[in-house]
Amino acid sequence: MDLHNTAYEVKEGVALLTVNRPDKLNALNRATLEEIGLALDEAELDGSVGALVVTGSGDKAFIAGADIGEIAELDAGAGRRFALFGQNLFRRIETFPKPVIGAINGFALGGGCELAMACHMRLASETAQFGQPEINLGIIPGYGGTQRLSRLVGRGIALEILLSGDRIPAQRAYEIGLVNAVVPKEELVTRALALGARLASKAPLAARYILEAVQAGVEMPMEEGCYLEATLFALSCASEDMKEGTKAFLEKRKPSFRGR
Ligand code: COA
Repeated sequence: MDLHNTAYEVKEGVALLTVNRPDKLNALNRATLEEIGLALDEAELDGSVGALVVTGSGDKAFIAGADIGEIAELDAGAGRRFALFGQNLFRRIETFPKPVIGAINGFALGGGCELAMACHMRLASETAQFGQPEINLGIIPGYGGTQRLSRLVGRGIALEILLSGDRIPAQRAYEIGLVNAVVPKEELVTRALALGARLASKAPLAARYILEAVQAGVEMPMEEGCYLEATLFALSCASEDMKEGTKAFLEKRKPSFRGR
């Protein structure tokens, strides 16, 4: 892959994608969004990758938002295309068939907070700050922020964050359920990779079905969600991993899953 705004490497079954424009606080311009798409393609197709960690380079920022220089040029038509492009990419992260962990190492503002929310889970460094400051620019979030924030933290707190544009520190983000854990800055990526490795060691097909059941099911009425769950449960019963997992338990040994 020919990457300029991101870095991508695989470490022990976990792909690490780093948004890499530290001089612009890793702001998401169009080229960076396209590279994230390429990295997702790579991580999805690579059978040796069982989980993905997304972080930002440098000391200060995870991602300080969409690129305001590009936003400044938008009119209504271009604005709609801009939002749909980012929304589709972030929906790809949300529906990614392998666990995606956001390692939030600093400012996660605007599109950065939206990208973090599209990840399946989030670890934040003690110095991370979250916010949707679009209102201060006279716009609204366009990469799913108005939808995912209220689903994650509830309507009242989401509206406070969206309407004030204020930044909230990592500890508060943890208290409202925006992040799964807060960890010391120097341990963040190691801890995220270790979590990724642990998740990657689980049965890959079952992981995929859990992700699908939760991500699709959360938008469905309970009855349809349970129908989906039963269908995916049936598929998991047809897998070699199910035979191996149950046999290993009965034989009192560790299972060896193959994702089939
Ligand atoms: N888009 C484009 N460039 C951005 C950016 C963004 N979202 N966020 C930061 N940058 C750039 C700055 O313009 C600056 O570039 P320069 O050195 O060429 O002037 C560089 O990154 C460093 O940012 P700076 O503002 O000098 O850092 P700071 O530590 O003083 O402030 C922030 C950090 C995050 C508070 C501030 O950069 C900020 O408010 N950024 C915008 C956040 C935002 O509104 N995001 C939502 C966009 S929809």
